[in-house]
Amino acid sequence: SHSCCSKPQFFFAVEVKVELTLLDKEKEVDLMSPNGKASPFSECRPNGSLGHCSDEDTMTLRPQRKHRDYIEASVCHVKDLENGQMREVDLGAGRALLIKEHGEFFAMGHKCPHYGAPLVKGVLSKGHVRCPWHGACFNITTGDIEDFPGLDSLPTFQVTHALQTQRRSKAMSKCSAVINSSTGFSHILIIGSGPAGLVCAETLRQEGFTDRIVMCTMDKHLPYDRPKLSKVCTQNKTLKILTNPKPMKSSFYLYRPKPLSYKGKDVGNVFHLRTPEDANSIATLASSKNAVIVGTSFIGMEVAAALTDKAHSVSVIGIEAVPFRKALGEKVGKALMKLFESNRVKFYMLNEVWEMRGHNGQLKEVVLKSGKVLRADVCVIGIGSSPATAFLKQSGVHMDSKGFIPVNKTMQTNIDGVFAGGDVVTFPLALRSNKKVNIPHWQMAHVHGRVAALSMMGKASDIKTVPYFWTAMFGKSIRYAGYGDGFDDVVIQGDLDELKFVAFYTNEEVVAVASMNYDPIVSRVAEVFGSGKTIRKHVPWFKHVNTKVTGQTSFQH
Ligand SMILES: Cc1cc2nc3c(=O)[nH]c(=O)nc-3n(C[C@H](O)[C@H](O)[C@H](O)COP(=O)(O)OP(=O)(O)OC[C@H]3O[C@@H](n4cnc5c(N)ncnc54)[C@H](O)[C@@H]3O)c2cc1C
Ligand SMILES: *[C@@H]1O[C@H](CO)[C@@H](O)[C@H](O)[C@H]1NC(C)=O
Ligand SMILES: *[C@@H]1O[C@H](CO)[C@@H](O)[C@H](O)[C@H]1NC(C)=O
Ligand SMILES: *[C@@H]1O[C@H](CO)[C@@H](O)[C@H](O)[C@H]1NC(C)=O
Ligand SMILES: *[C@@H]1O[C@H](CO)[C@@H](O)[C@H](O)[C@H]1NC(C)=O
Ligand SMILES: *[C@@H]1O[C@H](CO)[C@@H](O)[C@H](O)[C@H]1NC(C)=O
Ligand code: FES
Repeated sequence: SHSCCSKPQFFFAVEVKVELTLLDKEKEVDLMSPNGKASPFSECRPNGSLGHCSDEDTMTLRPQRKHRDYIEASVCHVKDLENGQMREVDLGAGRALLIKEHGEFFAMGHKCPHYGAPLVKGVLSKGHVRCPWHGACFNITTGDIEDFPGLDSLPTFQVTHALQTQRRSKAMSKCSAVINSSTGFSHILIIGSGPAGLVCAETLRQEGFTDRIVMCTMDKHLPYDRPKLSKVCTQNKTLKILTNPKPMKSSFYLYRPKPLSYKGKDVGNVFHLRTPEDANSIATLASSKNAVIVGTSFIGMEVAAALTDKAHSVSVIGIEAVPFRKALGEKVGKALMKLFESNRVKFYMLNEVWEMRGHNGQLKEVVLKSGKVLRADVCVIGIGSSPATAFLKQSGVHMDSKGFIPVNKTMQTNIDGVFAGGDVVTFPLALRSNKKVNIPHWQMAHVHGRVAALSMMGKASDIKTVPYFWTAMFGKSIRYAGYGDGFDDVVIQGDLDELKFVAFYTNEEVVAVASMNYDPIVSRVAEVFGSGKTIRKHVPWFKHVNTKVTGQTSFQH
């Protein structure tokens, strides 16, 4: 598995040959590997592999070099591939992504280990490939994950040996600390088991940390794929866990929903969607009944979309005139509003909740400030979150007036040895001249976890990342990259009515981009942002970015 670091070579005369080892066990795994349509909680690995305090090595996908079974395939002519091109090649027993850059060939796994996107539809640029769906980046030499989301890396293929699984957990050290039950000493305490905490723990083990790691959390579950909760809302689906069920300086990763003020606080069946239990209750209660959603940003709208084929009615209450306005702007918001309306979602905009009325403690009606009364059996409040950091007040850790914890580029708080990451922090964003920003994205929390772990190990590295976000509704995805706060104009290319568009958010320059049915434009623009270049507003886009559409998406990713 460590053969990844030497340069792959597979020139044979004029043909490129890729030869790989395929173990019987791995063949099975490959057949079962998620293709993006697996379980709704499918960001799990075939076997979780946190290198925690355990005697057994849980990384079952390592090639055991016993029964080698080589497969050699001529996949294409050397001249078939231009520099900067990628091709998915069929090796009979599996596929690989073949890449040519600067006259050299590279080969690695063809499916993104996050949700299984075909990487050949992503963007190749300067030694890495960026996934078309949610922006994860993989080094073409090592297969290592360099920007997130997702936990695993890619296998690389070489002439004489390679492993054909579609994901590769990096090697991890084991805990060798003597656990002394009388002192109970722990070396690293991680508070919170969201993606920031999880990636922090994994990175520590990947980097050779062998002392104890203790993770403490208010979650009932082991780390899971939270973004799926609002997009799938599936009843009684089993939840797959991202790690193995074993216990594992400090970090904090804490957030809670913002409070909404209204009359009738004691009425039941009103939810802030946060846990799998919430998602299940919402889906069950909404089944053939009336659902009311408060809030027209991502979580509220995702839930509204997910409930349309279950509920009798879905009503959405928003304080603004159009949904998604703050993040995506008026024009895109309007187009999406039409999409929701054509899927029988009813909007009550420029309105607010006045009262929740119940019968025997169960919700029956939502009364709006306008006086309108909506029948309701379940209500979901999605109006954003704020940091749940009040418990740190006496700790000496600095917080700003909103409760966010400022960190520097190594994810350190004001106190030595205390790190923080994820939704609760403001951190210096290189892309915006190190302005301190809060970016509550799944991907960003992964990045923070990694940077914090590297800093804890004394391997400080800057936060090199492009913020990347996605949302999904009615089988369509919106992808978003950059940091759009404070945009003052939106330039649209494509067709909003057809929901096939790219939107550039600008002030002096392009600060963010969003798209629907226009892959891989967002990953392409993310590459431009990541390279440190700016896209000036008045220069035609094609000078910077090739906006050609290479693929459509047909499933919610
Ligand atoms: C329904 C939903 C859908 C989302 N969809 C998307 C999406 O599509 N794309 C996207 O980019 N982002 C999405 N997000 C946002 C994304 O989930 C967050 O940005 C991400 O989870 C933040 O990770 P984190 O590690 O900071 O902490 P969180 O995931 O918020 O986890 C916080 C952890 O801290 C624990 N905790 C809290 N208080 C304490 C305490 N006092 N003591 C101990 N432990 C504590 C909690 O139990 C939890 O384990 C979604 C969020 C939700 C709720
Ligand atoms: C992971 O692998 C180990 C060792 O093969 C096995 O004992 C364990 O049950 C597996 N865990 C899961 C969650 O599949
Ligand atoms: C990929 O990994 C190699 C080897 O570690 C490294 O030299 C190179 O800089 C990495 N490429 C990128 C784009 O980070
Ligand atoms: C555990 O800690 C106690 C108290 O410091 C010490 O006396 C004991 O020897 C330790 N045990 C081990 C196994 O290290
Ligand atoms: C889901 O599970 C709950 C509790 O186990 C059960 O009451 C309910 O009927 C189930 N719903 C469906 C649709 O299977
Ligand atoms: C980050 O903050 C910590 C704690 O204040 C400090 O020790 C460290 O030098 C800082 N690092 C950088 C790069 O600013
Ligand atoms: S599928 Fe590649 S980043 Fe999500």
